[in-house]
Amino acid sequence: MIQVRIKPGVEDRIRGFFPWVYRPEIISYSKQPKKGDLVVVRDYSGRFLGYGYINPSTNISIRIVSFNKEEPIGEELIRKRLKDALDYRKRLSLDSNAYRLVHSEGDFLPGLIVDVYGEYAVVEFTTYGMRSFKDWVVKALVELLKPKGIYERVSDYVATIEGVEDKGGILYGDVPEEVTIWEHDLKFLVLVPRGQKTGFFLDQRRARRLIRNFVKPGDECLDLFCHTGGFALNMKRAGAKKVTAVDLSEEALKVGKKNASLNQMSDVEWLEANAFDFLRKMHAEGRRFDLVVIDPPSFAKNKASVPSALRGYKELFFRGLHVTKPGGYLVVYSCSFHIRREHLLQTLLEASKDVKRQVRIVGESIQDLDHPWMLQTPNTLYLKGIYAEVL
Ligand SMILES: C[S@@+](CC[C@H](N)C(=O)[O-])C[C@H]1O[C@@H](n2cnc3c(N)ncnc32)[C@H](O)[C@@H]1O
Repeated sequence: MIQVRIKPGVEDRIRGFFPWVYRPEIISYSKQPKKGDLVVVRDYSGRFLGYGYINPSTNISIRIVSFNKEEPIGEELIRKRLKDALDYRKRLSLDSNAYRLVHSEGDFLPGLIVDVYGEYAVVEFTTYGMRSFKDWVVKALVELLKPKGIYERVSDYVATIEGVEDKGGILYGDVPEEVTIWEHDLKFLVLVPRGQKTGFFLDQRRARRLIRNFVKPGDECLDLFCHTGGFALNMKRAGAKKVTAVDLSEEALKVGKKNASLNQMSDVEWLEANAFDFLRKMHAEGRRFDLVVIDPPSFAKNKASVPSALRGYKELFFRGLHVTKPGGYLVVYSCSFHIRREHLLQTLLEASKDVKRQVRIVGESIQDLDHPWMLQTPNTLYLKGIYAEVL
């Protein structure tokens, strides 16, 4: 196996279980590595730090999979990690047949995402190196889950950054275009091969249930960036009289409409629009809602884009506060690691000053329990939500 030595000073971080080695931190290789090669990471004086895999052309060059000298990377280790991940999910009361089985570093498998939708699993390898363990992953998933099918999704981002040329597809069994899952007392259709991400935003399961606390029978609610109606249907279930659900994606809205009929719900208005334009229009017309949910996609994929992302949030919060009735609720989320809880609170505070409305924070949420995050790898905590009563 290729031996890699790293610069003095970096070893403390790795001994503290930080699993990444950045390219400039590498001093030498025992042999020039290729993308996906297994490596042993050593400190400058040759002491063992961990086993990992390498991509010499990316900024995060090495991901450490094992910090234990007695546990080298191999089929057995991958199977054990997957079994541990499943055992942990079995302990949780997620109230759904859809869950995240593997959350990358959060399950000690950097570069691997596995989402389970009933009898099907969707796999996403977010690094070239983890993708080279594909056969082991599929074999273990078949043994552990006994699924009807496994599908691989390859995002454009991963294809570009990691240089994965494959387009993904069925890895095992058969996978239909649409899978019906249940979450709490609702059913949802998931487009496994074509939907956004792996098909459904499982991370918001707990928040979708939580939102029911802020709905009174007869309320008028707004679900901005609604995707296939996750929040909209929960608002209806909690007794909302009317829900307006807005998204840019025609396909997501089509599924949203099907989801409403699957749950025998009416009075959801599905609107294909840019949420920013829609909010501006509602503000100009003086429209107000009892509950407004804002769950946008990630506006900040890196640190450099934080200022522009915050401008986007400021605009959404400013208009969102305007269109919330006195005593109503504005609930906002961010799914970007780079946008911290403090950023959201500060931006909301500034928007509330501009709008001259007092705001009481009544709750907060993060990604659900099947998305565990590592204290040593803070990027694994990416989703935050703030629940604000607008006076
Ligand atoms: C994080 S997802 C929302 C997930 C949803 N709340 C759920 O529970 O399933 C973000 C959604 O925003 C939509 N979107 C992205 N940009 C948008 C925009 N400018 N206006 C409206 N929707 C947008 C995407 O199509 C996607 O469905």
